[in-house]
Amino acid sequence: MKLKKTKQTEADRPKKSKQKFRVLRSGIQGRGAFATTRIRKGTRIIEYTGELISPEEEARRYDNNGTNRHHTFLFAIDENVTIDATRRGGVAKYINHSCDPNCEAVNDDDHIFIEAIKNIQPGVELTYDYGFEHDGESIAKLRELYPCRCGADNCRGTIVKFKTKRKKKRSK
Ligand SMILES: C[S@@+](CC[C@H](N)C(=O)[O-])C[C@H]1O[C@@H](n2cnc3c(N)ncnc32)[C@H](O)[C@@H]1O
Ligand SMILES: [Zn+2]
Repeated sequence: MKLKKTKQTEADRPKKSKQKFRVLRSGIQGRGAFATTRIRKGTRIIEYTGELISPEEEARRYDNNGTNRHHTFLFAIDENVTIDATRRGGVAKYINHSCDPNCEAVNDDDHIFIEAIKNIQPGVELTYDYGFEHDGESIAKLRELYPCRCGADNCRGTIVKFKTKRKKKRSK
């Protein structure tokens, strides 16, 4: 499988005055991205950029078994390609997760963009639902390994998305 070279787009490199957020300390965790201007619902805010790596390279670089604090700056485009924002990554990597987000990650031709799904006022932290999927762990274990501190009323307690079990069809 061939990995395409990461290309920064104009969306990722807005002029300083056009940047719609800045990175500050966050009440959720570490640093976060805070709107510096009113952002309308539907606005494409920034591209999530970094080095494109394979699952094998991801496994080589990071411990995903929960023994250490899990990877923080990775975005899986699909099962073959992950964006590693620790290398050549832009500031989109500072956007935290929320279970009640005001943004979403959109895949446009294998480029990931963060777009507003609500009108956002200046000073408000930008968030999206990471939607991490995880196999083989109990919900209690996921909450312990990957806790969520978004503070939303509907917070599921973990930044991992639970897989919804399909109901088995009853045979007649
Ligand atoms: C892409 S980074 C976001 C920036 C991060 N806050 C920082 O300062 O580097 C993702 C990491 O931030 C942390 N994080 C993001 N959203 C979180 C949340 N809702 N609750 C707890 N930790 C969160 C987790 O450690 C996650 O792996
Ligand atoms: Zn939450």
